[in-house]
Amino acid sequence: MDSTASSLRSRRHDAGQRCRWRGEIEGRRLLVRVCYDDIGSVQHRYYALDEGRRPVRRRHDVDTVMHFAAFTIVPESVEQPLKYYLNNTAHTRTLLECCVEAGVQHFVFSSTAAVYGMPPGGVAAEDSPTAPINPYGTSKLMSEWMLRDVSASSPLRHVVLRYFNVAGSDPGGRIGQCTPQATLLTKVAVEHAVGKRPHVSIFGTDYPTPDGTGVRDYIHVEDLASAHLKALDYLRDGGASATMNCGYGHGYSVREVLKAVERAAGRPLVVREEPRRAGDPPVLIAKVDRIRELLGWQPRWDDLDAIVGHALAWERRLLERGA
Ligand SMILES: NC(=O)c1ccc[n+]([C@@H]2O[C@H](COP(=O)([O-])OP(=O)(O)OC[C@H]3O[C@@H](n4cnc5c(N)ncnc54)[C@H](O)[C@@H]3O)[C@@H](O)[C@H]2O)c1
Repeated sequence: MDSTASSLRSRRHDAGQRCRWRGEIEGRRLLVRVCYDDIGSVQHRYYALDEGRRPVRRRHDVDTVMHFAAFTIVPESVEQPLKYYLNNTAHTRTLLECCVEAGVQHFVFSSTAAVYGMPPGGVAAEDSPTAPINPYGTSKLMSEWMLRDVSASSPLRHVVLRYFNVAGSDPGGRIGQCTPQATLLTKVAVEHAVGKRPHVSIFGTDYPTPDGTGVRDYIHVEDLASAHLKALDYLRDGGASATMNCGYGHGYSVREVLKAVERAAGRPLVVREEPRRAGDPPVLIAKVDRIRELLGWQPRWDDLDAIVGHALAWERRLLERGA
């Protein structure tokens, strides 16, 4: 997957552009088309249906859609819930409609641990109750429900991947996160470590956790990419629609992550302690038996120092490029 991503993401794309990549990854022949348009726009519908309103699949033989696009900032979703329900939920509905019209057979959806809210003991299995505590989580859960209902009423089959906290970067240093004004802890911490930010904040030091800071299950982006390839194989082999957690089954506190960044950077960070943010649960850790059983997924990078080291290496590379 990382080679797909490097091919596709090594160039910057503006809205309205499309990109095509054909090749082989881990023995699978793939033709990948990436659409950089707003997935909810009317314009997008015409990419899914060509000028003669014939489904694109007939022209391009699209059999699988992997749907990553979303707004993702929890505090922003608390302040502007309708922005999230429009983009994450309503636009996913539009995309699903296009997929049904075009006869797409497989759909892999980027969902989130936020659908669980605050599970008892902080550990969530796929059949744990879903009770999101912020609009971001609710917007994703509603998309999951639409997907379930569409799969029940059409030939489409899906895998919902509920990501826990994605972190790290391509171990080969070719690609990484470039999101402006990122809010994810590891990204913010490595930006501070290379001097792009004056400090890094801890939001909440009074949680009922061993050191008072929030605990999360951090998954290396490379392992997440391999889970997507496994999900693709699973669906193409006839696997039934399923929902799977993507995490390692154990967590680290915010302070532990910051200590790992200090080890990687070889210097102390300037840490500012701030009040809790709205919508953050104290602990969120995945139960991961299902993805291992159904997909045979085996993570390679379950190592906080590796995750943080790769993120820092990427940030240094961005700095060299003036980005
Ligand atoms: N990063 C994580 O820890 C994490 C955890 C759980 C779930 N996820 C999910 O993974 C996916 C990717 O997250 P990310 O962390 O890379 O976020 P990101 O913000 O870096 O990337 C999301 C991308 O989606 C694009 N986008 C948003 N709305 C769009 C639309 N209507 N049409 C087309 N493009 C649109 C954005 O421009 C952005 O490039 C999201 O669906 C997110 O909910 C991420």
